[in-house]
Amino acid sequence: MPEEKYSTNSAGIPTESEEHSLTAGPDGPILLHDHYLIEKMALFNRERVPERQPHAKGAGAFGHFEVTNDVSQFTKADLFQPGRRTDLVIRFSTVAGERGSPDTWRDPRGFAIKFYTDFGNYDMVGNNTPIFFVRDPMKFQDFIRSQKRRADNDMRDHDMQWDFWTLSPESAHQVTWLMGDRGIPANWRHMDGFSSHTYLWVNAGGERFWVKYHFKTDQGNDFLTQADADRLAGEDGDYHRRDLWQALERGDHPSWTLKMQVMPFADAPDYRFNPFDLTKVWPHGDYPLIEVGRMTLTTNPANFHTEIEQAAFEPSNLVPGIGPSPDKMLLGRMFSYPDAHRYRIGANYNELPVNRPRSGVRSYNKDGHLRHHNPGDPVYVPNSKGGPHSDTDRFGEPAGWHVDGEMIHAAYNLHSQDDDWGQPGTLVRDVLDDAARQRLVDNIVGHLKDGVGQPVLARAFEYWSNVDADLGARVKAGVTG
Ligand code: HEM
Repeated sequence: MPEEKYSTNSAGIPTESEEHSLTAGPDGPILLHDHYLIEKMALFNRERVPERQPHAKGAGAFGHFEVTNDVSQFTKADLFQPGRRTDLVIRFSTVAGERGSPDTWRDPRGFAIKFYTDFGNYDMVGNNTPIFFVRDPMKFQDFIRSQKRRADNDMRDHDMQWDFWTLSPESAHQVTWLMGDRGIPANWRHMDGFSSHTYLWVNAGGERFWVKYHFKTDQGNDFLTQADADRLAGEDGDYHRRDLWQALERGDHPSWTLKMQVMPFADAPDYRFNPFDLTKVWPHGDYPLIEVGRMTLTTNPANFHTEIEQAAFEPSNLVPGIGPSPDKMLLGRMFSYPDAHRYRIGANYNELPVNRPRSGVRSYNKDGHLRHHNPGDPVYVPNSKGGPHSDTDRFGEPAGWHVDGEMIHAAYNLHSQDDDWGQPGTLVRDVLDDAARQRLVDNIVGHLKDGVGQPVLARAFEYWSNVDADLGARVKAGVTG
């Protein structure tokens, strides 16, 4: 066998030369049967998989989650039982930029975790904000396009962004977050992560609870000013990626404490806000945070492409004890992600080591491109050959709720205090201090002055006045003064 110091081609055959192609004489033409040269060129041409549609720029790491508090009264999910420790991979990202875009652009940050549990992969695909811009998946595609690039010149365009936002008043809460300090975190270690959506937890007795996840950074929240972010975008487009990589390389392991808001199942219909509306938070006075455990990141990927670029997160990966909620965005996402992975990576994306469940797979799905773990016989179910079957007694029906209604295209039923301006107004008046409010005004003014024209501008002034009259006046004065 050739020694390890000698290179081979992809078939393991020793190469003849890494420096010179095979030619007919030193100055002669290249010969087509130089298989290694052809292989090198062909595989180079196929190195990239398509980037993610949104959230293309990001990076990640490996770590673990440890349970520190007994929440078994709320969920039977194995990974949240006392004493449990579960390995995980996390990917942080920006939303609108492409794979090479600067980390410090103003944008929400993705916060996607895959827990390798004993009952299969559990994915919590959240953001660094507890809310979102729209509340119906029908508007998601349009929203993302408005944040990306125009059709004619392929450039980003603030007029297009504000056109969409001001015609979608439900965006006001998230845009207030985005334009404030949390819109550009100092780095990924110094930001919180949220499920944003409401999920369903079910305990061993079958009792149900509506829950929201809050991953609170143990490093403390910190942010970049617009001026610093602009400078860094030029100096180091990988600023956030580099920060996490270097922290882990020097043994500095960032952690987050997972805290939950838990709403008794029966509270939902009469709660003052629609608890499933993704543009709303549940005030902590109503549902205080309950500690669950700690996530710690320890290890950089050994290979970015195989472990991060091809990592496939999907909100549809829910394990026993955890279910979705009537949040229409979440229900839409449950189709979208596996579909994206099948297109972007291939039908058997779950075969890749980073995506493969550590607890084993005993499904009857088989074959397809690049499959290398196939079920044996029998290849069908039901069968009388002793093949695996569902454990209905143990896992029962999926976590869910009663539904009954006409099939319609309609907005959510409103709850008593539901409106689009109330919660962002509270955020501006009661959560931000004077300095943070001033930075919010400055950020909005700077954004609006960068290419937003009429009639969008007039709607933007109205939008901010609806959030808060004083804020609206200051924004208008800043832009027109
Ligand atoms: C990425 C769709 C809303 C967080 C993606 C991707 C798609 C998508 C297609 C690319 C997936 C891939 O190629 O790997 C949608 C749809 C939504 C929606 C249809 C609404 C109907 C949200 C919301 C959040 C979110 C509300 C946060 C609460 C993320 C994150 C990623 C992502 C973190 C990147 C995951 C990774 O790091 O691989 N989304 N999304 N998305 N989305 Fe969404």
